[in-house]
Amino acid sequence: MDKLVVFGGSANSPLAEKICKNLNTEPAKAQISRFSDGEVRVQLKENVRGKDVFLIQSTCPPVNENLMELLVMLDATRRASAQRITAVIPYFGYARQDRKDRPRVPITAKLVANILASSGADRVLTLDLHAGQIQGFFDIPLDHLYAINVFFEYFKKNKIKDLVIVSPDVGGIKMARAYAKRFSADLAIVDKRRKSPESTEVMHILGNVAGKNVLLVDDIIATGSSLVNGAAALKKQGAKNIFAAISHGILSNNATDKLKDSDIDSLVITDSIPLGEDKKRDKIKVVSVDNLFAEAIKRIHFEKSISVLFDSIGG
Ligand code: R5P
Repeated sequence: MDKLVVFGGSANSPLAEKICKNLNTEPAKAQISRFSDGEVRVQLKENVRGKDVFLIQSTCPPVNENLMELLVMLDATRRASAQRITAVIPYFGYARQDRKDRPRVPITAKLVANILASSGADRVLTLDLHAGQIQGFFDIPLDHLYAINVFFEYFKKNKIKDLVIVSPDVGGIKMARAYAKRFSADLAIVDKRRKSPESTEVMHILGNVAGKNVLLVDDIIATGSSLVNGAAALKKQGAKNIFAAISHGILSNNATDKLKDSDIDSLVITDSIPLGEDKKRDKIKVVSVDNLFAEAIKRIHFEKSISVLFDSIGG
């Protein structure tokens, strides 16, 4: 592994450290700071000439800061003559604008894919993209990991009976179906309408949840509106305990307080985005994706297949 070098940006240092620990290494040294006007300033403090470099950086809030930092790190690494650079992006932001669903709107997921590649990324390793098709926005290889097995291990210990997996919107059906298969559970769907970027409304529940325990699954919890409103509607339909497994805990706009007073019994998120001290609540549990990323990095480094990491959900 003498050619393997891992850097962590400042978006999620705890996860970068855990991944490195799994790899029996330490994050390589880099000076990451800001000029007085706010410009990102980076200097790699280790030689990367001819090395296989992995840059770990989630593009979570503050999104623009973290994205720019990643781009500047990519540029520094490329100019320092690394042999190959993998952008490891546990949470890939700007992904929700992935199509022209209204006139004169951008497709930011494609924009970010372009700038990552032109800044020096040779490949990308990420987790639970907002939409699987975003993989096709990259003209460089992209490895897509799934948190499903990490959540499965967590919930297996709790042995929840009469479980139904629920997608909080129609767009999440594919993901929910994979969970239903993995958990050997039934499937239901919340028919949600988005009134604005911050608020949603539940129209119908498709499927039977009466007398059942519910596991809501989604890629993102941002304002918490989808989850909290969905849970309230499920409760009205007679659901018993309501749990949620969400890959990326953005938790913006007082989502944590909303959650506290909601019908959700417990929310489990991954550490793709660090949970700030101000957001910690009893209802929120964090499971780590450190092993998953470490194993994927090892496999990419040694040019081995990574499909064993997601075989159990059917590829
Ligand atoms: C939407 O398509 C996503 O999968 C999430 O359901 C959504 O981003 C969650 O947003 P919020 O928590 O603000 O309702």
